[in-house]
Amino acid sequence: MKNPAPQTIYLSDYTPPAYLVDSVHLTFKLGATDTRVISRIAFRPNPDATSKEFFLHGQDLRFIGARIDGAPITPDLSAEGLRYNAPDAPFVFEAEVEISPSTNTSLEGLYMSNGMYCTQCEAEGFRKITYYPDRPDVMAVFTVRIEGDLPVLLSNGNPVAQGEGWAEWHDPWPKPAYLFALVAGDLVALSDSFTTRSGRKVDLNIWVRPGGDEAKRAFGMEALKKSMAWDEEVYGREYDLDLFNIVAVDDFNMGAMENKGLNIFNASAVLASPETATDADFERIEAIIAHEYFHNWTGNRITCRDWFQLCLKEGLTVFRDQQFTGDMRSHAVKRIDDAMVLRAHQFREDNGPLAHPVRPDSFVEINNFYTATVYEKGAEVIGMLKLLVGDADYAKALDLYFDRHDGDAATIEDWLRVFEDVTGRDLRQFARWYSQAGTPRLTVNESYADGTYQLHLRQETPPTPGQDTKKPLVLPIAVGLLNENGAEVVPTTVLEMTQAEQTFSFAGLSGKPTASILRNFSAPVIVKHDKTNAERAFLLAHDTDPFNRWDAGRTLAQDLLMRMVCDNATPDTGFLNGLAAVLRDDTLDPAFRALVLRLPSEEDTAQALFDAGHTPDPAVINDVHETLKLHIAQHLQDTLPRIYADMTVEGPYTPDAEPAGKRALGNAVLALQSKLDGGKAAAQQFASADNMTQQLGALRALLQIAKGENELAAFAAQWGHDRLVMDKWFALQVSLAPADQAAATAERLTVHPDFDIKNPNRFRAVFGGLRVNTAGFHHRSGAGYNLLADWLIRLDPLNPQTTARMITAFDTWKRYDMERQRKIRVALERIAGTSGLSGDTNEMVTRLLG
Ligand code: BES
Ligand code: ZN
Repeated sequence: MKNPAPQTIYLSDYTPPAYLVDSVHLTFKLGATDTRVISRIAFRPNPDATSKEFFLHGQDLRFIGARIDGAPITPDLSAEGLRYNAPDAPFVFEAEVEISPSTNTSLEGLYMSNGMYCTQCEAEGFRKITYYPDRPDVMAVFTVRIEGDLPVLLSNGNPVAQGEGWAEWHDPWPKPAYLFALVAGDLVALSDSFTTRSGRKVDLNIWVRPGGDEAKRAFGMEALKKSMAWDEEVYGREYDLDLFNIVAVDDFNMGAMENKGLNIFNASAVLASPETATDADFERIEAIIAHEYFHNWTGNRITCRDWFQLCLKEGLTVFRDQQFTGDMRSHAVKRIDDAMVLRAHQFREDNGPLAHPVRPDSFVEINNFYTATVYEKGAEVIGMLKLLVGDADYAKALDLYFDRHDGDAATIEDWLRVFEDVTGRDLRQFARWYSQAGTPRLTVNESYADGTYQLHLRQETPPTPGQDTKKPLVLPIAVGLLNENGAEVVPTTVLEMTQAEQTFSFAGLSGKPTASILRNFSAPVIVKHDKTNAERAFLLAHDTDPFNRWDAGRTLAQDLLMRMVCDNATPDTGFLNGLAAVLRDDTLDPAFRALVLRLPSEEDTAQALFDAGHTPDPAVINDVHETLKLHIAQHLQDTLPRIYADMTVEGPYTPDAEPAGKRALGNAVLALQSKLDGGKAAAQQFASADNMTQQLGALRALLQIAKGENELAAFAAQWGHDRLVMDKWFALQVSLAPADQAAATAERLTVHPDFDIKNPNRFRAVFGGLRVNTAGFHHRSGAGYNLLADWLIRLDPLNPQTTARMITAFDTWKRYDMERQRKIRVALERIAGTSGLSGDTNEMVTRLLG
């Protein structure tokens, strides 16, 4: 059966709302299957409107009745909402609807998670709660009354009154409906407070259901206070209410949501204890808490005019949380982490059928555009802007942005204009970063004569779906020149490339330098530079820019892996010695050394081979990666035990950057060591670990050598009661299963009594685990493709948003051989042909099939 053609929405069709809202009063009479929502909304005609149509969004609502200025009306109801021939003057609209939270498995709108009522309204979930102009350019002051037989009843803003079974809330800040939130349940808070620099005392709470999670709240609270202090110090932004609530919920589609004064978090993104969370979890939690908190200014006080402007809040807020993590931990390590994420997800997106600009110009389902391009590339664009204008003008531009647009629903044009006004620059060419999709390739050629070094640069962006021709972008290219001793003869200089081809000269040198190009990853591009491996090894040993030092090692490893795949090359001692030198260099941060030791992923190698014109075979890539790891382990044999011992952390566990870096290197060394000692050291670490980082690191090392059966069972026995830890148990087995057993392992876990298709964390553990097992997912039997398709078809009617996100596992399919492509096409067509497929998944499968 053919699903209906999706309806596309275009940026160029934007029109202002016909009516504005001054105030909203909502009353919720909670019931699991029969919640009544009574609304009273003060509308007035928008003087800037181009249309007079009174239309309110509404989805899956049981209409009880409506009135205008007290008189009952009979509006036109459709599957999308409500229309009425409303007065061309201010009026009060009232409606009563009924909704069923307990059967709402989409986790959008009002739903139930383990007996707790909660909401998720971004992007377009409020329309599942009541009839409303559910668009971000309609901002209003909300007052909310909640009636329900539950001890804790929360909404946005400040509490105004409460009694047995009811509570009233008022949020003084006008906001779009997507920032509305309600939580009701049996909850307990960890409470604290923060006094802002102007002396406002803010009460802080982190709420969980009682019975196990109480001890996991402390770290999040510290992260919240750090975030509040940082936004005051670095951006001059204070919090603007007397209360800030965070609630942890078990069933959540995303990581977390920035609802005004009432952030709702996936439990995995806020709850942590040393025994249950890894160092990576702690760092992620700190970043997500910061991110959602920072949205209070970049997203809530200044919101988006329409969803095409999503990067206005998300790109900027990601950029801010990246700065924060850099300040809290290590800028070098954070930059490398972010570049790895960008390359793995955003470059991948750009190279496939889902490529789109940072600001898309059309969409079918906005949920499908919360992507690496909007988020991560959106953050990179801001980083480039900051590099081009400098720190001082960046700070001035941000001040002007907050001054000028506070209370607005703004656009990317507004954002760029503050930079133009502060700096006098013309940013029209720079603005192409927002509208042009694809990853630019920067080809580097060099020449040297008579003391002058020349860099010949060429930029080129390959076509992407719907964009065949590309224009040159403004590229800030940070360059440093090193002499043969590794000393900087030209310190980091930012070249501003604006043409398709351009040459930059450096005169007055006493010898041919070695160039370190794109320092600190100054632009999100792929550098094509035919350096010799000797030059790369030199940079790995000497580059004064930590990012490029790491990247030199990365490029060496990638080049070697490709030669091993294509030419049966064996690892050369030059590479192995370079690695060994970094590993043994005690002056380097262990976290940095762990990153240098980490090889490109199998996914990276597949992409690199494809870029070079080959058809990657995941089975061969898997073999080659294993072979290289074994070579590295053997080459480092004598060093590994010493480094492992050096990485011992004394004293009680803390998730701080320094001990975390030691544990990261310790675990990396342990994984190599296991290839030589049959898992002896890993089994010991597993048995003696007092924290999840080391327990899981040991288990991973064992599973990687096809051992750890007993440890896996012990882990389940120890942690069976803890959902978040068990997610790791589910994910690890699938992601590390031998390729020919990956699909079978995933399938076996779906019949485990603790598998729950309705819980996105658990579904993602199993099928996200399958997806990252590149050789397993792409096993030539096609079992991985079929299993994922089966389960996406099952999930779609329950939770379209998570289905549509998970189907991106197929987005690299055009890289592979005809037989694999045929099998994937069959799987995708089977999904596409499912009757009643959701709009979310329908859009994604259509784009994937091209
Ligand atoms: N506003 C988003 C949450 C969201 C995403 C709501 C998609 C509706 C649809 C939130 O601020 C966010 O971006 N969360 C990220 C984590 C963040 C650290 C990048 C997430 O949930 O993954
Ligand atoms: Zn966000």
